[in-house]
Parts: sequence; C-alpha cells; structure tokens
Amino acid sequence: MTATGRRRFGREDATLARSMSELNLILLGPPGAGKGTQAERLVEDFDLPYYATGDILRAAVKDETELGKKAKEFMDSGDLVPDELICEVIMERIDSSEAADGFILDGFPRTLVQAEKLDTIVGNADGNGADGLRVLQLLVPDDAIVERISLRRSCPTCGAIYHLASAPPAVDMVCDRDGAELIARPDDNETAVRKRLEAFHRQTLPVATFYKAKNLLREVDGVGPVDQVFERIEKSLS
Ligand code: AP5
Repeated sequence: MTATGRRRFGREDATLARSMSELNLILLGPPGAGKGTQAERLVEDFDLPYYATGDILRAAVKDETELGKKAKEFMDSGDLVPDELICEVIMERIDSSEAADGFILDGFPRTLVQAEKLDTIVGNADGNGADGLRVLQLLVPDDAIVERISLRRSCPTCGAIYHLASAPPAVDMVCDRDGAELIARPDDNETAVRKRLEAFHRQTLPVATFYKAKNLLREVDGVGPVDQVFERIEKSLS
C-alpha cells in the first residue's frame, strides 16, 4: 500500500463503508502496535486516501529530498522529527480535494502541537464527532512491541508488512506481492525502538488524552490475531 495513494479494493463485505458517509480516522498507538497492518484492512473497507507519515518520510529519505535529508537522522535514532517538518507535509494532503470525503491517518498527530494544528481543519466538533472524526488507539504492552518489531520485515517497494513468525511471506524474505527482497527497517534496532517507545509515552499519549477529552477516542485491545483485532476495530467504529 502506498502512503498517499487512493485505493479501491471493492471488498463485498464493506459494511462499515456503506454505513458511514464520511470518516476522518486517526490511528494512534505505540510503534509496532499494528497500525500499518490494520490500516491495510481499513483501506479495503473505506475508499479513502491513506496517509502514513512514517511511509511518507521513508519515501522522502529514499528519494533524498530536502525533507528526507532533514528527517533521516531523527528517524534512524528513534526521535520524532520536528513538528514543523511533518505538519506542513500532512496538512497540505488532508486539506486537498482528494481528502474531501475523509481520510485515514496513521502516525499523525503524534504531539500536542500536531493535534492542535490538525484541529484547525477537523476535530472541532463539540464532542460528538460531527465532522466524522474518530480516533482509534491500539493498546499493546511494551514487551509485546519489542517482539513484534524484532521480527517485522517490510517490502521496500510496496510497503507490505510481514512478521517472520505470525505472518511470514510464502518464500523466505521475498515479498508475496511484488517479489522484492524484504528488509528490516533501520529504526527497528533495540536502541531506536526504546527511544520510539519513550517518545510515544512522553509525546503521543497526551494526544490520546486530548481526544479523550473531546469524547472522540476509542481504545481497542491490539493483542491477539490480526483478524480478531480488526473485528474489534470494526465494532468500535460502528
Ligand atoms: P512510523 O513508521 O509511523 O513508525 P511507528 O509509529 O513506530 O509504527 P510502526 O510502523 O513501527 O508500527 P505499526 O504500528 O504500523 O505496526 P505494524 O503494523 O508494522 O514512524 C517512523 C518514524 O518516523 C518515527 O519514529 C519518527 O521519527 C517519524 N515520524 C512519523 N510520523 C511522525 C510524526 N507525526 N511526527 C514526528 N515524527 C514522525 O506491525 C508491527 C509488526 O507486528 C509487524 O511485523 C506485523 O506483522 C506484526 N503484527 C501486527 N499486528 C499483529 C498482531 N495482532 N499480532 C501479532 N503481530 C502483529
């Protein structure tokens, strides 16, 4: 799945998509919680543009753009990139006509500054989600995170996500979709993962509190088989 592409999968059982005319969905959760994994399924159900800030930044690093050059060091070490860098990138996407009927955001907002910035476009509803905003937080304990991330491999070209134990590719280290060789992300080493977890607790949990106060937060247990977690998500959105 691309970070910015609009995809229509036409799943016949897209019941949620039919029942909701507009959805602005934010996926929150610690690193490795399964945001990207669940987003793939959500994109199948909702014909909405999907914006994953991590994917957008990794593409910028790969293409050696100005954004990528500025972001690389922060990302590799497990720190968040500065708010001003990421806000501009994401705001122009969700303020575009492509996102007029809604969007799925993965990895943004991650700080209170980012949440307040986003609030200037969506989220000012008086606690009833009238503008279609839903914030879904996946709950996964830190020890499970470390196991998940150490066994994660991803496709550098299409972004498909695998887990060497629970969701391995059919052929060892080869992407099922496009045949590319799978990689471990540079920020998936133990030191960077610890920093990412610390950043989540210190900088992103206050974002969950921010949305809780607006009555927009839905917490979902992210432990268990991927299908089961997805069922919980569907239930919480319906
Ligand atoms: P980003 O790419 O967003 O990384 P992250 O939040 O750390 O999340 P991950 O992609 O690591 O995990 P995920 O929750 O998507 O889990 P996944 O589905 O892959 O950000 C990277 C960096 O970019 C940041 O550190 C920062 O520097 C920068 N950045 C991005 N956004 C920013 C922002 N807004 N502001 C500032 N900086 C920003 O699953 C993980 C593994 O678990 C996989 O192997 C998967 O197969 C497996 N798995 C998934 N679900 C299950 C399950 N239910 N059971 C067992 N295994 C499972």
